[in-house]
Amino acid sequence: MVNWTTKDIPDQSGRLALVTGATGGLGLETALDLAGAGAEVVLVGRNAAKGADALDLIRGRHRDAVVSFEQADLADLSSVAALAERLRASGRPIDILINNAGVMALPKRQTTVDGFEMQFGVNYLSHFALTARLLPLLTAGEARVVQLSSMAHRGGRIRLDDLNYETGYRPWPVYQQSKLAMLMFAIELDRRSRAKGWGLTSVAAHPGFARTDLIANGPSSAGGLLTGLAHSPLGRLFSHSAADGALPTLMAATLREVRPGGYYGPQGRGEMKGPPGVAKIEPQALDPDVAARLWTESERLTGVAFA
Ligand SMILES: NC(=O)c1ccc[n+]([C@@H]2O[C@H](COP(=O)([O-])OP(=O)(O)OC[C@H]3O[C@@H](n4cnc5c(N)ncnc54)[C@H](OP(=O)(O)O)[C@@H]3O)[C@@H](O)[C@H]2O)c1
Repeated sequence: MVNWTTKDIPDQSGRLALVTGATGGLGLETALDLAGAGAEVVLVGRNAAKGADALDLIRGRHRDAVVSFEQADLADLSSVAALAERLRASGRPIDILINNAGVMALPKRQTTVDGFEMQFGVNYLSHFALTARLLPLLTAGEARVVQLSSMAHRGGRIRLDDLNYETGYRPWPVYQQSKLAMLMFAIELDRRSRAKGWGLTSVAAHPGFARTDLIANGPSSAGGLLTGLAHSPLGRLFSHSAADGALPTLMAATLREVRPGGYYGPQGRGEMKGPPGVAKIEPQALDPDVAARLWTESERLTGVAFA
């Protein structure tokens, strides 16, 4: 589809969407546009004040928006479990789940409350656990589940013998692994959904290079060369706005003729920016053996099974 925009989002009235990391950046833009298309949107974030600001912003843009905020820290699996429990208690089927929250290339190795390496834990394991815990609500209808991956998956490798980088921590390979894991999770969830008749559609998306707080919160949190890069004249040449960066996610979440197990991203040179469409998947993301082993290990680490 050429130059797909938010105007192409089909009417989402009556649908319930959940977006993690919706207090800023791409998640907020995604929530904003889903609400604008009529969906009821639950914004998930760790910071209640930012959550309140995000709700105000969405209601300011779309007067009739039905939006709410759920607090959850994805660096804490008990917080993820509590979120899922609240949603399950409501009994309301979820039509769209967007696993978007993330941190990038933290200069020093940090760990989650459960002792996982922070990027692997927040970007991937928490979303694996959340999706598993929400499975009854996702299989009740014809849900769409979207995992946020990245161009960074290209150089990624799944380190099955040391997923949490107990040894040899390096910020970028660790980020690359987390984003490759998200893409493999999307593809494996599609395989399993079809095999087990779960009836959900699993896809992945990436924004290219979008101007958000990701660099400031990650590689530049200790200062350094990348500070201000995205907003510099050179950076602007290779990047696009958060609103444009959210389009592949919105396409993956709402396109009627979406490819199950598909991957969506910008169509410009190197998939850095441009209108959304089908993105290129690197061969290592398509390895079903590694995907199955990653799945088993993720169930073991999180203590949550897809059942
Ligand atoms: N921007 C890009 O060019 C780019 C490229 C490729 C992939 N991505 C992916 O896109 C996704 C969104 O990133 P972004 O660019 O929008 O970055 P961002 O502006 O930094 O937003 C990240 C969001 O994730 C939330 N988050 C981080 N840690 C969390 C935790 N422990 N618990 C709950 N929420 C948490 C943040 O909450 P706070 O507001 O509380 O910090 C924020 O809402 C990420 O998965 C990222 O890997 C981005």
